[in-house]
Amino acid sequence: MKKLGLLMLAVLMIGLSSCGGDNANKAKDAANNAVEATKDAAKDAAEATKDAAKEAVDATKEAAKDATDAAKDAVASVDGKSLFLNNGCVACHQIDKKTVGPAVKAIAAAYAGKKDDLVKFLKGEGKAVVDPANFAVMQPNLATTKKMSDAERAALADYILNNK
Ligand code: HEC
Repeated sequence: MKKLGLLMLAVLMIGLSSCGGDNANKAKDAANNAVEATKDAAKDAAEATKDAAKEAVDATKEAAKDATDAAKDAVASVDGKSLFLNNGCVACHQIDKKTVGPAVKAIAAAYAGKKDDLVKFLKGEGKAVVDPANFAVMQPNLATTKKMSDAERAALADYILNNK
């Protein structure tokens, strides 16, 4: 719209120039200057828009990277093996031989295809199926697994079930 106005002004001034001498030339110059100024302003605006868009893209990329890193950290912190090792489970559960408690492989076999049941047991809502006679020895440890998050119990169950 602005540009159109300026163009009309220029045309008007060029029209005027046909009736006058010097004044007409001055008017023509002024019109030309106005057109140049408009062009420059448009170029600056385009430039600024480009810069802003680039900054926005960079910021988005940065945010996406941060989110990915955070997600990676979260996954690392619910690593089932670490949970099993760091919560004293290994004291009674060896991978493939029975000690105080059943072998992890024996638990995996009993819960094969029943991850939900295993998670339930760890939540303190299930019933012992591997060695019910010795459940009293296991029971105090459910205090630990009950306190865990759902994600942690799921990771623990995945770890146990992957020991076939
Ligand atoms: C003091 C020894 C001891 C510790 C420590 C221990 N357990 Fe046990 N666990 C047992 C015994 C004994 C059994 C067999 C009784 C039973 O089946 O519930 C058992 C059984 C289990 C079972 C099979 C449950 C079922 O349906 O029979 C799972 C799963 C299990 N433990 C997970 C864990 C996890 C996870 C930890 C660590 C947070 C842990 N245990 C720590 C002794 C222990």
